[in-house]
Amino acid sequence: MDWNSLGFGYIKTDLRYISFWKDGHWDGGSLTEDNKVHISEGSTAIHYGQTCFEGLKAYRTKDGEINLFRPDQNAERMQRSCRRLMMPTMPTEVFIDACKQVVKANEKYLPPYGTGGTLYLRPYMIGVGDNIGVKPAPEYLFSIFCVPVGPYFKGGLTPTNFLVSSYDRAAGNGTGAAKVGGNYGGSLLPGAEAHQRSFSDAIYLDPTTHTKIEEVGSANFFGITKDHRFITPASPSILPSITKYSLLYLAKERLGMEVSETDVYVDQLDQFAEAGACGTAAVISPIGGIQNGDDFHVFYSETEVGPWTKKLYDELVGIQYGDVEAPEGWIEKV
Ligand SMILES: Cc1ncc(COP(=O)(O)O)c(C=O)c1O
Repeated sequence: MDWNSLGFGYIKTDLRYISFWKDGHWDGGSLTEDNKVHISEGSTAIHYGQTCFEGLKAYRTKDGEINLFRPDQNAERMQRSCRRLMMPTMPTEVFIDACKQVVKANEKYLPPYGTGGTLYLRPYMIGVGDNIGVKPAPEYLFSIFCVPVGPYFKGGLTPTNFLVSSYDRAAGNGTGAAKVGGNYGGSLLPGAEAHQRSFSDAIYLDPTTHTKIEEVGSANFFGITKDHRFITPASPSILPSITKYSLLYLAKERLGMEVSETDVYVDQLDQFAEAGACGTAAVISPIGGIQNGDDFHVFYSETEVGPWTKKLYDELVGIQYGDVEAPEGWIEKV
């Protein structure tokens, strides 16, 4: 494996966890070599989008240990997604134990410390079983597989540019806050349009007024004002990013910044000295500029990461790789 040139692509690893729900309960779950799922043609996941997922990473530390970053938060968010789609929930302890089993079973794919790589874990749940009407499935499949990954956006810590989309990612009172498949199917076309025009991804505005920034592709937005306040959008249709909530805490408690979740108007970007996209896959990706119609707004620089974005990055990534002391309960050792 060439650890230093890993991108964000599928690589088949050895074992994945799989568990089935039937007659009101989950079976014991097990690891399997088979990376194909065999399901009924009537499965609700195929027809009605009864599918949700998560994404989290395992990190190799300097002294050879393995860290999971806040897996309890992913377990809880998945439970909220499941409730929104009328799916059974997976208990937090089972979710975390399954993550650990998958990491241990595929340890040879975990990139070494210092390469910038991680082992990305993809838990998902789908409605399966014989069915045809629009109603919750009779059975469910929960699985976690893993892939070694490098940076999600090409730049890493080099800023990249984003395009404000005229499409909505989610409806005002829809499923935007849940990590459900349909939100992502609908984002493929806006994403492709942004890529075609050489932007990293699409920026979505609020679906009601189209004046406020909501999401940056599959990541949350943050801006840092000229007087060093950390600001990130508030909206019921944004996916509550675990990275974003971690940054809100670190900015306030470790870097002494004022923080707020509030409206971020796309015509008021001048207030920000720096901006970035944050998420498990995106980590912290500095935003060079945003194209909104004919207007192109540059933040700190199109080529250099800004100083506050870099400080936040060092704190977050330092905690994930075990180089910086983590707040209580943030690191789960495998
Ligand atoms: C739409 C969307 N927004 C934000 C995020 C970032 O969330 P997190 O930091 O929990 O990975 C993700 C990725 O999970 C996402 O898919």
